[in-house]
Amino acid sequence: MKFAATVSAIVASAVLLASSVVEAHVTTNPSAATPGSYFQTNFRVPHGCEGNTTDYVRVEIPKGVSSVKPRALYPWKTEIEMVALETPITTPTGTINSTVGFVTWSGGLIPDNMYEDFGLQMKLPQMTGNLYWSVYQRCINGGWQNWTGVPDAAGKTSGFPAAVIAIANATTNNAGGSSGGDKASAAHGVFQTLNLGHLALAGASALLMAIL
Ligand SMILES: *[C@@H]1O[C@H](CO)[C@@H](O)[C@H](O)[C@H]1NC(C)=O
Ligand SMILES: *[C@@H]1O[C@H](CO)[C@@H](O)[C@H](O)[C@H]1NC(C)=O
Ligand SMILES: *[C@@H]1O[C@H](CO)[C@@H](O)[C@H](O)[C@H]1NC(C)=O
Ligand SMILES: *[C@@H]1O[C@H](CO)[C@@H](O)[C@H](O)[C@H]1NC(C)=O
Repeated sequence: MKFAATVSAIVASAVLLASSVVEAHVTTNPSAATPGSYFQTNFRVPHGCEGNTTDYVRVEIPKGVSSVKPRALYPWKTEIEMVALETPITTPTGTINSTVGFVTWSGGLIPDNMYEDFGLQMKLPQMTGNLYWSVYQRCINGGWQNWTGVPDAAGKTSGFPAAVIAIANATTNNAGGSSGGDKASAAHGVFQTLNLGHLALAGASALLMAIL
């Protein structure tokens, strides 16, 4: 009994360690899409600010992304902020001169040892490549983590990296283009977990042998 409890505690902490290594940044889930598609993703806030609880998350909508609708996430207050369109769009029913510029969730709480997913649906622009999203995270101690860093010409990102949606033309391996990247990173996570689990188990057996 004691052995089993010890081993599962060690495995649990190895799993925790592995998941914090894999999920260290704000990510989009799913993270791969096709140009011009209607797309739904979740911005995952994986941890607080140096141990503090998160109570505010603001997502800036990149230019060219339209038809944005946030998920109403209880008990968070969800606010939609419009910004003027540089080029108003004429439709048969009138002129559209503004678009969603920011979505803010506030008033909920994410303890540092938990995560939350903030959902958005949208229409993506006609483009291929990485679409970067600035995410502003605030904690109850007043600290900020602004996920706004994008790679420079040398590929180096300073500060907290922005969230990203990878937009690519559909291929036979990525029909619909919704979750290819996610599957790869999930598999990577499991691989890391198993590796750490084995190491921890080997350590635990060695320790028990020494005690017995
Ligand atoms: C919260 O943040 C401050 C610094 O901003 C830090 O000193 C403190 O240890 C953090 N953790 C908790 C649980 O408050
Ligand atoms: C946007 O359109 C609305 C009505 O369609 C109008 O009342 C408003 O003044 C317009 N705003 C700008 C900045 O053009
Ligand atoms: C983070 O962004 C917020 C909102 O734009 C700003 O008020 C704050 O000063 C920024 N903090 C840091 C550390 O960049
Ligand atoms: C994606 O498809 C479009 C239209 O078929 C084409 O013009 C473009 O070059 C393609 N882009 C890439 C990166 O393959």
